[in-house]
Amino acid sequence: MVSDNAKSGDRLREAAFAAMENAYAPYSRFRVGAAIQASSGEIVSGCNVENAVYGEALCAERVAVAAAVAQGLTSFEEIAIASESDEPSPPCGSCRQTMSEFAPDLLINSYARNGKQATWRLVDLLPEAFALNHLRGRP
Ligand code: THU
Repeated sequence: MVSDNAKSGDRLREAAFAAMENAYAPYSRFRVGAAIQASSGEIVSGCNVENAVYGEALCAERVAVAAAVAQGLTSFEEIAIASESDEPSPPCGSCRQTMSEFAPDLLINSYARNGKQATWRLVDLLPEAFALNHLRGRP
């Protein structure tokens, strides 16, 4: 139902912005929140977590996926991303690969702080993803 989808989209967006408030980003000062909805309906959120060793920074999307998997959730429908950018921020390449492991056709809604929104399907952002079937092709 359209209204149900709209409501769950609102809840996801709100969860992503709430997670963004917890972002630990003293180096980039670019706070990101993410909220992923499992096929069971549960919502799990994440935020970016930076480190004095810059390369150890964790993206919000991967933190959300890892937290969900730790709860036993491995099937996902939709993710919301919230950032402080003026433009909706697309997920980085590493996050695309991580999300593709579980939901190659994931619906991605990204929101800028001013409310601007962009929507993608993961398969369009990461066509030809490396996946389990490629590993199975080894000799
Ligand atoms: N970041 C995310 O959390 N998600 C993305 O998809 C892009 C980048 C974070 C990582 C780092 O903490 C900061 O944004 C700047 O790159």
